[in-house]
Amino acid sequence: MLIALCSVKGSPGVTTLAVALAVKWPHAGSIRRLVAEVDPAGGDLAMRFGLSTTPGLVSLAAAARRTRHSSVVWEHTQVLPNGAFVVVAPPGGAHARAALSTLASAPDGPLLPAVARDTGVVILADCGRVDPGSPAEAIARRADALVLLTGTRGDDLAHAAARLGELARWTPRPGLLLTGEGYPTADVERELGVRTIGRIPYDPDAAATLTGHRPPPARRRGDGGLASQATALAQALAGPAAPPSASPPTSIFGEPDQQVRRPPALITTPPGRPPIPAPAVGPQRNGHGPSATGKEPFA
Ligand SMILES: Nc1ncnc2c1ncn2[C@@H]1O[C@H](COP(=O)(O)OP(=O)(O)O)[C@@H](O)[C@H]1O
Ligand SMILES: [Mg+2]
Repeated sequence: MLIALCSVKGSPGVTTLAVALAVKWPHAGSIRRLVAEVDPAGGDLAMRFGLSTTPGLVSLAAAARRTRHSSVVWEHTQVLPNGAFVVVAPPGGAHARAALSTLASAPDGPLLPAVARDTGVVILADCGRVDPGSPAEAIARRADALVLLTGTRGDDLAHAAARLGELARWTPRPGLLLTGEGYPTADVERELGVRTIGRIPYDPDAAATLTGHRPPPARRRGDGGLASQATALAQALAGPAAPPSASPPTSIFGEPDQQVRRPPALITTPPGRPPIPAPAVGPQRNGHGPSATGKEPFA
């Protein structure tokens, strides 16, 4: 299975989400989870986790010139502390773009989607910001599902709105995922005319841990919401085969009686294609944000 994760503006937490999903993927012990940094702006995970930049995306691209066997991908992985594999990208955008372009021009298409078709494999492809013409597009278009993570300020949403229709056509299961302290989820859904698949809470401690920086013990206050949301989202992405968790995650925003179980959902779903079901977590931060002023996001 190949899950593409992307943004269209800023740095909303795509890389953090990719690692979080790998950590929380159902049956992680029996699934080979691979975080692939296919971000044309370059990678962060090698630096964050103290890994070498080789093997990684650049060595994989070189190997792709010599072989069509997708299994070669595994020779260019390293292992994250949580046991997931990772293909790290070099920090420099120029090298990452060149490597991605090489991978995209492989005769049988990029190797990553091919290896993602193997049983018991899930690839979380961190596509970064997918500007028009991004060399990560060839991988994202072959994904089983695409998650667009966006902030919820007016400018974030304007950028998301401009690309929604196009991105929704890239994969069978597109999903819009919100983050940040902007407009409430209900306002975003109304203005964009789409359902969302959830909202990633502001959780700096969990984010720091997932990005290789353990917060000081005094700041470890337990689940700030990111872990729960990632668990729910991973289960939704993994599909109906994944059993529900023993204890359903709860939202850290709003009391249970304020939570709304969202309908199946998404950007727009082409006819006959199943959407990603919304995780069984209520919307976050409803009731907060600029719309309380009555101002519309896209005025
Ligand atoms: N849910 C979150 N809550 C708080 N901070 C976050 C969250 N997700 C990411 N961050 C922080 O934001 C910064 C950018 O995250 P990153 O995942 O690298 O974003 P992107 O890949 O979209 O550029 C990092 O310092 C990370 O720790
Ligand atoms: Mg990133």
